[in-house]
Amino acid sequence: MSVGNKLEMDRYMVRGGNPLKGEVVIGGAKNAALAILAAALMSDETVTIENLPDVRDTNVMLDAMSEIGVVIERVSRHKVKINGANVRNVNIEYELIKKIRASYYLIGALLGKYKEAEVPLPGGCNIGSRPIDQHLKGFRAIGAEANVERGQISAHADRLVGAHIYMDVVTVGATINVMMAACMAEGKTTIENAAKEPHVVDVANFLNSMGADIKGAGTDIIRIHGVEKLHGTTYSIIPDQIEAGTFMFAAAVTNGDITVKNVIPKHLESISAKLIEMGCTVEEFDDTVRVKGTDHLKPTNIKTLPYPGFPTDMQPQAGVALALSEGTSLVTESIFENRFKYVDEIVRMGADVKVEGNTAIITGVKGYTGARVSSPDLRAGAALVMAALAADGVSIIDDIHFIERGYEDFEVKIRKLGGIIEKCGGDIDVQKFTLKTSVV
Ligand code: EPZ
Repeated sequence: MSVGNKLEMDRYMVRGGNPLKGEVVIGGAKNAALAILAAALMSDETVTIENLPDVRDTNVMLDAMSEIGVVIERVSRHKVKINGANVRNVNIEYELIKKIRASYYLIGALLGKYKEAEVPLPGGCNIGSRPIDQHLKGFRAIGAEANVERGQISAHADRLVGAHIYMDVVTVGATINVMMAACMAEGKTTIENAAKEPHVVDVANFLNSMGADIKGAGTDIIRIHGVEKLHGTTYSIIPDQIEAGTFMFAAAVTNGDITVKNVIPKHLESISAKLIEMGCTVEEFDDTVRVKGTDHLKPTNIKTLPYPGFPTDMQPQAGVALALSEGTSLVTESIFENRFKYVDEIVRMGADVKVEGNTAIITGVKGYTGARVSSPDLRAGAALVMAALAADGVSIIDDIHFIERGYEDFEVKIRKLGGIIEKCGGDIDVQKFTLKTSVV
């Protein structure tokens, strides 16, 4: 609920000091789910999606789809049936969809199926400018008129005809969006310099399960032969690589021992490699990884890169861990231009970090002290929770709605691992929590 435009219950209270120990089960990948939900409307038959993460962004996407006539049946928290046969218009309302960037996936889906789409331009994000020029380039290449006008992205085509597209930058969103539109174009489309993230592969596999003909997803050249229709399917979304990585790094930050279940270890290789460099122990099993922290975290250098490099969505979590290492580390953010906003917050908790351009120079300290901080964005917010769990004393983390965009039951999962964390509202709650959790 909200009072004015300030959400109540929009903060966590955390008492630090408990190493996180035990098991956590990872949910479906948010960034695969958002594209797959949009793509599901491309069929006139019923599509069943399983292992759907129940997070704010996916729920907003479903609301927007039902607004244009897509029939949504929420079978359970993690399973939904979608039928796009009766889409009545292709113009998505701003109010609904301005909250999530991934609204742009509705363009690729609607353009591919109806040859037209009108979707509000996603708002700027806290991590950078988020251009869409490569999306427009791809749509135009297959024959669409695609422009930004009146705050809307509008695209329409008499025919969509396959083309050879070279992405100027490696972009997950544009790769997926163009792949969606092209899978119902006439003829062959080649996307070169394509993104290779696991969720790009998941979307391609999903579209192929509906009868699309996409080859090469996961490599930098994706080949698509357009089809006239897409049929219904039942599909289960891959586990969330970034939720898994977040809990893996939580073991490092709190010197804990966490068994992360329902993962694909191959998707976590760059994350595991860095944790091992930092002195943690990482054991891999079929669908599980176990991470044990260490009393002596080692410094290391990290540069975020497109997959299979170290993910930009793991950069804040790694920075929070390196701030506790015994030495100096360099973290370079090569994907987004404004992804160090968490640094000011952890400095207030005692970290010693200087940001120069797109590099953070991190000098390890003995520990964090509890403080009141604010989540600048989704992944930075999760990283601040990790810092608070390691801090001496009580921390308050405001604006946790950012975290709830991409993490399901975040505080519940942390409590099950022994973390002392509660969602709360006003200042009275803070006093009660501090008293209740004060060490006897
Ligand atoms: C997706 O964003 C994810 N979001 C992001 O996760 C993730 O950080 C990002 O991919 C990179 O992995 C969703 O999937 C909903 P990009 P996206 O297009 O698609 C530039 C999270 O925390 N670019 O791969 O918007 C862009 O500026 C979120 O879950 C262009 O120049 O990212 C950036 O520098 C945060 N022109 C780089 O490419 C374009 O047309 C990568 O962006 C598009 C992108």
